[in-house]
Amino acid sequence: MMRGKPHTPTPDAPPAVTGCVTQYDTAAAVGHIATLSRVYSSETWTVYDRLDRSLDPRSPDWLHERAGEYLRSGSVILDMGCRDGADLVELAQAHSLTGVGLEPVAIHVERARAAVAAAGLGERVRIVQGGMEECDYPTDHFDFVWCRDVLEQVRPLASALWQAARVLKPTGRMLVFTTVATDLLEPGEAAMLRRHMGNVEANLAETTILGAFEAAGLVVEDRDVIGTDWREHAEESYQPVSHALLRLARLRRQREQIVADHGEDIYRHVEANLHWEVFQFLGKLQPVVYLLRHRQMAPPGL
Ligand SMILES: C[S@@+](CC[C@H](N)C(=O)[O-])C[C@H]1O[C@@H](n2cnc3c(N)ncnc32)[C@H](O)[C@@H]1O
Repeated sequence: MMRGKPHTPTPDAPPAVTGCVTQYDTAAAVGHIATLSRVYSSETWTVYDRLDRSLDPRSPDWLHERAGEYLRSGSVILDMGCRDGADLVELAQAHSLTGVGLEPVAIHVERARAAVAAAGLGERVRIVQGGMEECDYPTDHFDFVWCRDVLEQVRPLASALWQAARVLKPTGRMLVFTTVATDLLEPGEAAMLRRHMGNVEANLAETTILGAFEAAGLVVEDRDVIGTDWREHAEESYQPVSHALLRLARLRRQREQIVADHGEDIYRHVEANLHWEVFQFLGKLQPVVYLLRHRQMAPPGL
């Protein structure tokens, strides 16, 4: 039976104890406070301070430097999936190259041609509309094949790589940057990425990529995991991932209207695309660079 006034908690008064406080509860509370004191100690703030210092991550410039090791003045280069031609123009200018950019999407082709013209490279660089798999340049034509961030989207992968190997000179090299899924990618996240539609799910498995290299007669001379380097580098200067997350939040808040105005397919594509760099940051998607050569490479001097 309750005696006197009912207990009304005030901000200063402790809450009423309704149950039975056991010795176990008391020990657990003391233990929890000890844990809180530990995790909020200066030890933790020291770690945060440490995390505010850059680890000098590599930037995409590193890929250009890597390619530069194999490029000479007058080398003939193929950029497979050149999009707006930015890399091809930069490489052609930096190494006095002759080059071809292959690109299947009309709007990219237009922009790449405009970029080549603006750089005054019309005599040395040609942009051709088409996919890797339909590349009809002569066998052994190119000294170097550059393929950055394209294999994720290529269908059929095997014939595209077969063509790349065919047009590459016996002494040539191919540099591939692509992104593969890791074990950290949960099934629901993989399903969401499937709705991107631009990517081919099978090509996000590194086993698929390695199998396609092998089938094309290409061997991996060097494999370099970029990991979060490029993402860290970009985030340190212009915060693209924070921007993607902000857009994602706004996208989801306007779901119905965006679907009504632009279609479910576009909504889903944008949603999946906005996760791409975030997942790279979280290690669910892992960018990797492969340097490839022919399995049967010609002796030097050929
Ligand atoms: C993510 S973008 C990367 C573009 C550019 N290489 C870069 O790193 O900025 C992928 C590009 O691959 C192109 N692509 C898709 N399928 C292709 C194919 N079968 N052959 C060649 N390019 C393809 C796309 O049109 C797009 O321009």
